[in-house]
Amino acid sequence: MIVMAEELIIAQGGKHERYSLLYKQIAALMEGESDQIANMANVAAMIHVTFGFWWTGFYRVQGEELVLGPFQGPLACSRIRYGRGVCGTAWREAVTQVVEDVELFPGHIACSSLSRSEIVVPVWQGGEIVAVLDIDSEHLATFDDVDRQWLEQIVKLFDR
Ligand code: SME
Repeated sequence: MIVMAEELIIAQGGKHERYSLLYKQIAALMEGESDQIANMANVAAMIHVTFGFWWTGFYRVQGEELVLGPFQGPLACSRIRYGRGVCGTAWREAVTQVVEDVELFPGHIACSSLSRSEIVVPVWQGGEIVAVLDIDSEHLATFDDVDRQWLEQIVKLFDR
């Protein structure tokens, strides 16, 4: 029998405790793997399973568009133009977008009508944004500064 070394441990307690242990496991996993797509796939899965979000994934910068990358959750839009939606705004503004109510965000792209709040974090590599990490929740105001800080810390692991 082959036993997989990869096993996700989810901390008990609050958001901070969960992110703290999640971060350590993501850092350890990425230390042993250089392929960006493989890392995006596992990072999306680990965040998704730890918190039970509605949709967790990456869009990668390809020319003037963001193209869907590894994700967990329901079917999503394949391409997002520069500056469009929450994802395109995070790319253009080069800053994390925390959206408490997606219906109040002008130009929000509704890939799923069940999505109510969202966070999009730019992924930097060598001074350029190469992707965004997008997380959707089916509840209002799921994301706050704790999520922003930890998720920004997690995507820094791609900058190497
Ligand atoms: N809502 C995003 C589009 C991507 S999906 O949520 C997966 C946006 O407005 O950019």
